[in-house]
This record gives sequence, C-alpha cells and structure tokens, in this order.
Amino acid sequence: MIFEIDSKNLEEIEADYSIVFIKKGSKEHRWISHKDELELLKFEAEADEVANLFEKRRIYIATRSFDHEDIRLASAKAIKILKKLNIKTLKIGSYTGDAINFRAICEGMILGDYEFDRYKNKKNSKTIEKVIISLEEYDVGEIDKDSALASLKEGEIIANSINFTRDIVNTPPDDATPIKIAEIAQNLATSNNLECKIGDEKFLEEQKMGAFLAVSRASVHPPRFIHLTYKGENPKIKVALVGKGLTYDSGGLSLKPSEYMATMKADKGGACTVLGIIKAISELGLPIELHAIVGAAENMIGGNAYKPDDVLVAKNGKTIEVKNTDAEGRLVLADCLCYAQELNPDYIIDIATLTGACVVALGEYTFGIMGHSKELKNSMFEASNCSGELSNELHFNRYLEKLLKSEIADMSNISNTRYGGALSAGLFLSNFIEEKNRDRWLHLDIAGPAFVEKEWGYNPYGASGVGIRSVVEWLRVTI
Ligand code: BES
Ligand code: ZN
Ligand code: ZN
Repeated sequence: MIFEIDSKNLEEIEADYSIVFIKKGSKEHRWISHKDELELLKFEAEADEVANLFEKRRIYIATRSFDHEDIRLASAKAIKILKKLNIKTLKIGSYTGDAINFRAICEGMILGDYEFDRYKNKKNSKTIEKVIISLEEYDVGEIDKDSALASLKEGEIIANSINFTRDIVNTPPDDATPIKIAEIAQNLATSNNLECKIGDEKFLEEQKMGAFLAVSRASVHPPRFIHLTYKGENPKIKVALVGKGLTYDSGGLSLKPSEYMATMKADKGGACTVLGIIKAISELGLPIELHAIVGAAENMIGGNAYKPDDVLVAKNGKTIEVKNTDAEGRLVLADCLCYAQELNPDYIIDIATLTGACVVALGEYTFGIMGHSKELKNSMFEASNCSGELSNELHFNRYLEKLLKSEIADMSNISNTRYGGALSAGLFLSNFIEEKNRDRWLHLDIAGPAFVEKEWGYNPYGASGVGIRSVVEWLRVTI
C-alpha cells in the first residue's frame, strides 16, 4: 500500500472509492453529499457507525472525535471493510489542521490491513494499492504539504516496523528458533546499516551468563545472544534496550498446563519489539546511539534441563536459587541487563512478556511500567498515551524485597507469595541494575497486549507489536 498527498479537493481526485470520516453527531457537514441514501440507511452519525454506499463508491464512518487515536481506529476500520472489495485506489480528506493525523491515517491503514497468512494455502490476495490523501480540510484550516508528507513518512516507518515485529512473534516456535531470530537480526543489520554481534553458547560461557545458559540448556535449539547497534549522527543520548526472546516457554520442568502453554511462541515478544524499535529508529534517522540486546532461548524439558533447587550464578556474580523453572524470562534478562550496563548507557529499558500476574493486574490491552524513577516512569506513561498505546505504572515498595529471599542463595527466582507477581518479577530484575543506574532503568511488562487471541482496534488476532510506538515516542521526546 502506497500513500500520496494531493493538493486537489477530495471530489476532484480520481480514485476507485472515497472515505469520509464524520465527527459524531455532525449529520449536516458539507462533506455529506449523499443525504438521501444516508437517511434511507438511518445513518445517525453515532460514534463508530458505518454507512458503506457501494453505488456511490463512498464509505462514511462516524468517529468519536478527530483525536489521533480515533482517526487511527477509523482508518483501520475503513481498510478492513474496503480491502474485501475489488478496488485498488482510495481517497480520503484531511482532519483538523494537524499534520500528525496524516501519520494516524497511515498507521491505522497499514496496521489494520495486516494479516498473518504465511501458513495458509489460500491467501487473501486482494489489497488496496494506493491511498491518496487530499489536503482539503474537514474543518476550515490549512495544512502545510511538507509537514504532512513528513508525518506520513513517519507513520509508514513505524507501522511497517510494527508489522515486521508482528510477523516474527506470530511465527511458530519451530520456525522462529533462536538461530532464526539471530538471522533476522543479522538481515536487519545488513539492510539498515547497523552493527551486529551474535553470540552462541561459547560466548555465553565466556560472559559468565550462567542464568541465561541454564534456561536454554534443555532445548535442541541452541541459544543466541544478539546485540545490534545504531549510531545516529551526533547522538544526543545512548539507550540500551533489552528484550526477552523466549522462542518457546514450555515452563521447563515446572511444566505449564497445556492451556497455558499454547501461545507461548509469543514469549519472544519483547525481543521482537526491541528489533522493531531499532528498525524504526534507524529508518527515522534519529540522533540516538541505540543498542538492541536480545536474549533468545527456548525453555524446554529434558535430562539436562535446569531444575528447581539449582543455584545459578549470573554474570554479575549474584546467585539465584531456582524455585520454579517457569520464571525463566527474568533469568535470561538478568544476564542481558548486566551486559547492557557495561555499555554505560544513559537509559536502560527492558521489554518482556514477563508475568501472567501483569495480565491479571492490568488486563490484556495494557502493559506495565516499572522502575525506581518516578519521572522516568511517568515520561514513558505520557509517551505511550500520546502514541495510542495503553500502559500503566506499577510502583515498587519497601516490603517487596523480602519476598524474593532465599535461605541458600542471594535471592530466589520467584516470590514466596502468590500475589503481586508483576512487581516481584520487576524487583528481581532490579537486583541486576547497578546502584548508579537505578534511576536510568525501566522495565516494561508486555505480557498482556503482546499477543491477544482476538481482534482489538487495529490489532488482529495474535501479535500486536506493542511497545514500539511508546518507546519510539519516548525516545523522540527524550532527545
Ligand atoms: N512467559 C511467562 C509469562 C506470560 C504469561 C506471558 C502469560 C504471556 C502470557 C513467564 O515466563 C511465566 O511463565 N511466568 C510465570 C511466573 C511464575 C512462575 C512466578 C507466571 O506468570 O505464571
Ligand atoms: Zn515461564
Ligand atoms: Zn516466559
């Protein structure tokens, strides 16, 4: 799907079909040129109402507002309906004098158009080829073409990066192995001019990543450590992103019941989001030094599996008593966080499908933000709001630390209570953050929204690519 901007009025542009958004209740707007037909259909312009006038080649969609998120949702809805028709080109007008809405239209359409059909013999081949956005305004206003074009380009980069991430997360575990994830990272590095370092088990041993190694040990698919670097021109900040890349989480010897095991191919969601972010930032060309660090492994069972009662030694020398092998993500992340800090970044952000408890706490659409710095947590919350993603802050407290106490090691890998598991997992990670980095670190638990088994908004069944828009926005406002 390609996007074009045209200075002609909407009516003058040639296209197979036109889309008109109507602000809720505005039945008399000048853009409603088919009053009789809409009356026949009893179109009341109530929020989310759709009137598709096939004969007039026009679809009307009523929106709650023209906020970016409502425009994004309406654009996705339009594309989902229109892609089923035998048409190739679409036209749409501009909304509320704000160039960011060009980005929202583009994001909504690319995200709404996404389907994961690689494994289907019968593919849905129809797709819209071109979308022309007229500079004609719904309200009286004027938009500068250059800023509209720039906004559109950003939308394309971000939405395509999200679909890149969705594709990897959706790929089944026997095809998206740690080696395959490393290959994808290597290809991304080649196409986007990034530095790329891939480490195998030998590298993990040299790095003394005893926790990461233990998790990966029972799989026939060997682990991979991945480190991509993007150096923008005159970088203003250095940021390290760390992603949990469990290509499958069976739970290990603390085996998951089968209904919880299904969908655990998505336990690589954090890693794929980190790759999507470095793809987007390198294409946006932002002045940042960005490191994308991924721990890719498979948590399986076998005679050589790590087990409850084992004591592991992490890269920083801290010892961990394993009480549950299903709390594996934090073990992989612990070693990767130690590595990330050796780069002396200004900020460290880990992204992980870490706990079912976070899904219980915040629901399946919202990710959790944890960390020690109020300002940092808040800036991520604001950035995610602004980007259209849903997040909420979960605050640590002084009573949590004792929940991770072990009688024989520096800490246990699970809490000794069944409550508040998202926070205790976050606090476990905090044990691997050096004192000087306390206020530079954020942990994002995306276990809820990374993979949802039903469509929501512009997200299809399956992987959403959550986290990319929030972190890209956060980086943009932080530089
Ligand atoms: N990968 C899971 C967390 C998860 C759950 C992600 C649901 C997405 C959806 C993680 O490794 C895990 O199994 N966590 C355990 C921790 C427990 C053993 C302390 C959990 O959440 O049950
Ligand atoms: Zn697990
Ligand atoms: Zn996991």
